[in-house]
Amino acid sequence: MKKENIILTGDRPTGKLHIGHYAGSLRRRVELQDTGDYKDMFIFIADAQALTDNMENPEKVRQNVIEVALDYLACGLDPMKSTIFIQSQIPELCELSFYFMNLVTVSRLQRNPTVKTEIQMRNFETSIPVGFFAYPISQAADITAFKATTVPVGEDQEPMLEQAREIVRRFNSIYGETLVEPEILLPDNAACLRLPGTDGKSKMSKSLGNCIYLSDPADQVQKKIRSMFTDPDHLHVQDPGKVEGNTVFTYLDAFCRNEHFGHYLPEYQNLDELKAHYMRGGLGDMKVKNFLNSVMQETLEPIRMRRKEYEKDIPAIYEMLRKGCEKARETAAATLDEVRRSMKINYFNDAELIAEQIERFSKE
Ligand code: TRP
Repeated sequence: MKKENIILTGDRPTGKLHIGHYAGSLRRRVELQDTGDYKDMFIFIADAQALTDNMENPEKVRQNVIEVALDYLACGLDPMKSTIFIQSQIPELCELSFYFMNLVTVSRLQRNPTVKTEIQMRNFETSIPVGFFAYPISQAADITAFKATTVPVGEDQEPMLEQAREIVRRFNSIYGETLVEPEILLPDNAACLRLPGTDGKSKMSKSLGNCIYLSDPADQVQKKIRSMFTDPDHLHVQDPGKVEGNTVFTYLDAFCRNEHFGHYLPEYQNLDELKAHYMRGGLGDMKVKNFLNSVMQETLEPIRMRRKEYEKDIPAIYEMLRKGCEKARETAAATLDEVRRSMKINYFNDAELIAEQIERFSKE
């Protein structure tokens, strides 16, 4: 990673963060943050975007802003190294979205696969709120206002990044080189790309009740792991089992490292050996689940402990967010100055404008 990289990403505050967020993006952000190989790192809570499909639930969004901030800090995001802020407090993002709206067609938005599925999930087919429909445009503003080069997100955000890149190209070709085309940074491990829910359904989601939250107490995590979806045909210990589509193994792919075997399951060297035994037959689900539980507890315990500490000083969390918003706003404001100049709407700080107009009117 090069020093001139600007990393930016965010989450909608519609619930506490879960281990899908952790595997898909949070863990990576903390690693990136700790390498220090970047110019700037912005992490934000996308409350304005959350309101595009929760317009009638402002209290829910407000409550979850602090939950997400606590989850960030608990995972190790450090406000000394990254700027953590709240989207709605940066009015420049609305301004930029408004100009971007001229650069995107309705049919282009209709083709966005993420928006398409979300419209179905929310039963919006017959009455799509304009703000929701246009959120890919506002997301492009989130990214470009900070000149982000690198956006670590899950696979489901790929269409958003593509939209942002198109907008940047269009903007720069009309108004001149101003904005930066961002790159997506996906998790390198396939299991982390899209961690399924504990019920084996394709995605962890609060509405399906199939999430393990970062803040779940240890006994809850254990309970959820014990009732996880495995291979429905693996009825007896001696039966051969399948590891593909077996959620317990998918989670192990995402979270387990070789050293976990030494600590908790020394009969095996690594995950391949464990999988081979399961596929041969003779390995019971409970044993694998107990191992996964040990791995998850080891991963989550430090996060839970840090969260408890941060919960003791809530005013300090809001103060951290306020400072983050201030810093983020400075950056976004500087970009908007350039945007307005490129778009020729900088009437009061363009030294040549008045001279040009005098010249023009004196000729008539
Ligand atoms: N859409 C993202 C999500 O649902 C949140 C988000 C909003 C975002 N703006 C962004 C992510 C900009 C990356 C960059 O999680």
